[in-house]
Amino acid sequence: MFNTIIKKNYDEVSSEAFKIMKDVVTSTPRPVLGLATGSSPVGMYKKMIADHNSNGTSYQNCVTFNLDEYVGLPKTHDQSYYTFMHENLFSGIDVPEENIHIPNGEAADEKAACDDYENELKKYTVDIQILGIGSDGHIAFNEPGTPFTSETHLMDLTEQTRRDNARFFDGDIDEVPTEAITQGLASIMRAKKIVLIATGANKAEAVYNMIHGPKITDCPASILQDHADVTVIMDEAAAAKL
Ligand code: GLP
Repeated sequence: MFNTIIKKNYDEVSSEAFKIMKDVVTSTPRPVLGLATGSSPVGMYKKMIADHNSNGTSYQNCVTFNLDEYVGLPKTHDQSYYTFMHENLFSGIDVPEENIHIPNGEAADEKAACDDYENELKKYTVDIQILGIGSDGHIAFNEPGTPFTSETHLMDLTEQTRRDNARFFDGDIDEVPTEAITQGLASIMRAKKIVLIATGANKAEAVYNMIHGPKITDCPASILQDHADVTVIMDEAAAAKL
């Protein structure tokens, strides 16, 4: 079941997502936050930092799990998701470093890194999972064709995803890693509450397929049709085909 919210612009979309996030953080004794990278959640992260600074909302009791990480980029690379999260959120709030979980994209044994991440994640229940959506309907890095039963796994990135993300790598697709470690679709579905943020015309088709298309692995996000509590927050461009 989807609760859909359409807002005028990215700032309003971010405010709406922030409200839901703050509600979970302030009403749960030990909140478990599922976090995403990409440009979609950045506005919400800015509002979390501003609110932490001006109202003292604390993340000391929070545990965080990120969705995914590129394989082969050192943690310190400016486009690793480790760096992205520290720059865009963690450095601005008071979540303890030891409570932060991000898949290890530098592990020699990638399969073991996936299993370790999934086992750690299974010790918790994610209270709120933030998601973006890829223009091909992927969530986290679960590309089309990923089984709905998937848990944390290694994923070959599609050319479309690498092209979409090339903007973060000086526009050079050859610099975009070809693989990632990602939570699986079944991992994501265990979250109690999901908030998906989508803005811009290039998301309109994926958003339509997620909500109204058949539930098939061609559109990984269509699995969310089976989740009991999904809020999709969009701007008008992303909602244009609904
Ligand atoms: C990447 C991330 C996804 C994200 C998607 C959309 O592929 N792995 O988690 O949702 O891109 O990114 P953006 O929000 O920048 O459009």
